Amino acid sequence: MSTTSEPTAKGCPVLAGFDPLTPENVRNPFPALARAQREMPVFFLPELDRWCVTRYDDVEEVLAHPEVYSSSDFVDLPFPPAIAEQLPSGHPLDYALVTTDPPAHTRMRRLSVKAFTPRQAAAQADAIRLLANALIDGFIEERQVDLAHVYCAEVPIRVIGPIFGVPSDEAATLYRWAMEALVLVGNAQHLSQEQVLELGQGQVEFDRAVRAIVADRRENLRGADDLLTSLISAEDDEGAPALSDSEIVGMTAAAIAAGSDTAATTMTHCIRLLLEDRSRWQEILDDPARIPNAIEETLRFNGPARSLLRTTTRETTLGGVILPKGAKLLAHITAASRDESVFPHADVFDMHRTNPRQHLAFGRGIHFCIGAPLARTEMRVAIETLAQRIPTLRLVPGHQIEYMSSIQVLPVTGGLVVEWD
Ligand code: HEM
Repeated sequence: MSTTSEPTAKGCPVLAGFDPLTPENVRNPFPALARAQREMPVFFLPELDRWCVTRYDDVEEVLAHPEVYSSSDFVDLPFPPAIAEQLPSGHPLDYALVTTDPPAHTRMRRLSVKAFTPRQAAAQADAIRLLANALIDGFIEERQVDLAHVYCAEVPIRVIGPIFGVPSDEAATLYRWAMEALVLVGNAQHLSQEQVLELGQGQVEFDRAVRAIVADRRENLRGADDLLTSLISAEDDEGAPALSDSEIVGMTAAAIAAGSDTAATTMTHCIRLLLEDRSRWQEILDDPARIPNAIEETLRFNGPARSLLRTTTRETTLGGVILPKGAKLLAHITAASRDESVFPHADVFDMHRTNPRQHLAFGRGIHFCIGAPLARTEMRVAIETLAQRIPTLRLVPGHQIEYMSSIQVLPVTGGLVVEWD
């Protein structure tokens, strides 16, 4: 990457040579982002037609003002006609909480928060422990596995699936489509027409599968006790359905997407960081109460959501830069969580840091992650169970974590290869 910062013809500040989608920058964007924070905290990415916001205070400002920084243009999928005509109501994520502004967001969020309280998350701990033990039973005789696949990816989808009434035999396929949706969002410019067509066809099937789950539940409401049922049954003050079918489909699809790869990536990163330095692993073996801090520091140090997408509703000034109305933004929460002004020695993974929970990995403001209590419980229980069952776990040298390329999230495709005695 060039070390000079150049103004563009349009006069926008550009960080020369920084393309967040190259494999190198997907894996390690931190040197470029640190330089941006120092020299050009809000800069333009011409290839993506997006502004990148890197400083903690500026990212917080964006997340605190949804009336200026809208979430509704979040999904920007330039599907070819062959795909678009199969999605007459648009993409499922068009109707998700995360892509909706108030007042619709306020109404939809009120109906969903009930299923995601810290108390409900804590109540799931025993079931998650059973699940974790069953997964470990399935591979413990093998002595060497890629934990990213057999464990970290499996726990979250098997926890979130039942909450939304997803049949267990469909969970893995839905997970893959959800990952591909996240790769497509804001990323399609970097894909060939064939790739967009192939991934787009998967999105058509994703839409159909989630619609079928919702339709089936609508016909068979009796006896079911999950979030999907309460979303379908919710009524407004006049007794009419509170949510449209598309909104229910969008909320289900988005929760599968938002609730699975994020926790899978965080667990993969956390286990790797603990095993990279044996004293860290020993510390959590000796005192499992240290696991939550290790998880928070992982979220800060290398969180699974790189940046949050927003669009300005009017001209505004951010970090000294004038942004026009309609400017598309990447509020870079990963960069913000390495801001030295908030986290001294930010490039050091420090399990004893006193303020890791100040990270922005779960967002801030009205869109703050609804699944944070659940994610924290499942990650803690899964890592605790793994450490108890396989204390001699160690990394097999020569492997590195591999990712799908996305500007927004960081889905892991593998590379946490471990062995044990
Ligand atoms: C380590 C795990 C997780 C991380 C790092 C994470 C991160 C985030 C972030 C950054 C946002 C804010 C998006 C924005 O402002 O545009 C968000 C929102 C959301 N997350 Fe999570 N998430 C995680 C796990 C989960 C889980 C387990 C669920 C379960 C359903 C979930 C469901 C949601 C939903 C529905 C929203 C949208 C909330 C809204 O727009 O009001 N997430 N998440």
